[in-house]
Amino acid sequence: MRSEAMQDFSYDPFDPAVMADPFPHYRVLRDRHPLYYVEKWDTYAVSRFADVWDVLEINDGTFVASEGTLPAATVLAHHNDGPVPDPPVHPMPFHANFDNPIYGGVRGAHSKPLRPRNVAGLADRIRELANERLDVLLPQGNFDLTQDYGGVVAASMVCHLVGLPDELAPDVLATVNAGSLAKPGDGVNTANARPGYLEYLTPIVVRRRAEGADGSQPIVDGLINYRLPDGSALSDTEAATQMLGVFIGGTETVPKIVAHGLWELSQRPDQLAAVRADLESNVAVAREEMIRFCAPAQWFARTVRTPFTLHGTTIEPGQRIITLLASASRDEREYADPDEFIWNRPIERLLAFGRGQHFCLGVHLARLEIGILVAEWLKRVPEFRVDTEAAWRPPSSFQWGWNNIPVTVQTGGH
Ligand code: HEM
Repeated sequence: MRSEAMQDFSYDPFDPAVMADPFPHYRVLRDRHPLYYVEKWDTYAVSRFADVWDVLEINDGTFVASEGTLPAATVLAHHNDGPVPDPPVHPMPFHANFDNPIYGGVRGAHSKPLRPRNVAGLADRIRELANERLDVLLPQGNFDLTQDYGGVVAASMVCHLVGLPDELAPDVLATVNAGSLAKPGDGVNTANARPGYLEYLTPIVVRRRAEGADGSQPIVDGLINYRLPDGSALSDTEAATQMLGVFIGGTETVPKIVAHGLWELSQRPDQLAAVRADLESNVAVAREEMIRFCAPAQWFARTVRTPFTLHGTTIEPGQRIITLLASASRDEREYADPDEFIWNRPIERLLAFGRGQHFCLGVHLARLEIGILVAEWLKRVPEFRVDTEAAWRPPSSFQWGWNNIPVTVQTGGH
């Protein structure tokens, strides 16, 4: 069961050619190898929308991210002989590696400010931040649409959520961007970047613990007050480690989608005009296509705990699956003409935020930020042009997105 006919095609998520442009590989996978075995990593790639949808729906312990949702090549190089148990409780790694009840307990302990009603209360602040950025950037004429606009706004919101001063937003943005750069053949090694991230996060935990953690800063206070099933609490480093998801997830995805989405619109004047015709109603529609078309995350991993059969192949405990979300978003079985950007295409189902147990914790904030950033831009920028030659999308197995999109604007003022 462990090897499949390769014929003339091979796929490896860390292959430099795949990291430089995975889409042609995804198409072959979907058409010819919907369950593709990568022997080197003892991992199956699931590429069709319907399969990813069904697999991620299973939350009964069949799949647990016991080796991380984003394991580096060094982790996958080790082949397991059987199921991988939950890690030891202390020192506690990122909670996504655990099955319930610890996974759900820690997730619940720091999810409060990301729930819909609390997120809705952030709209005015996001709008203000977007306009502050535009006040600075538009007079410059040329700047980086990804980093200088959405990047700083998203990082400011992360600072607000985790309890860092706003002024640190550019530093946070640069740190997260640097930590997500991937080496061909190796993938992203988030563990290497962690010490840098924890330098921001651990002092917050220390401070809030000293101040009494009364719940007024809900993410960090929730983690400090969380108790594991054995009654123990998280140490400072352990609590800070749990905040990495919000720190990284909140910083790097939204700006790439906003900048890339606006670029796609700018290449299609008829679509741009249609969206502009009624920003109030249309931005929310275009936002969904931007998320489908531009979301940079390529795949997430799970380790199989009990045998699971798909397309006639049984995946054994200890083997892994990677769900290719970016392939699912371009699956012609789900979306007509999937490689075209169509601002108002029907999107009945979307996998860009994942699904099931690990469904994006920041989904409401992400949608709110994207909608506001796109709307405020279109209100204030009558014309803009992307310097296509200078735009940069670094090869990656994880966040394959437009890190830099230099833009020139002509403005009509406020
Ligand atoms: C459009 C922007 C975003 C996209 C496309 C996105 C996508 C995703 C996806 C696909 C996952 C699931 C990973 C998996 O299955 O293993 C995820 C998880 C997560 N996201 Fe997002 N995300 C976005 C924005 C955000 C924001 C703004 C935040 C926080 C403020 C955030 C925080 C998280 C966290 C904490 C998780 C881990 C959830 C868990 O494992 O329990 N994300 N995101």
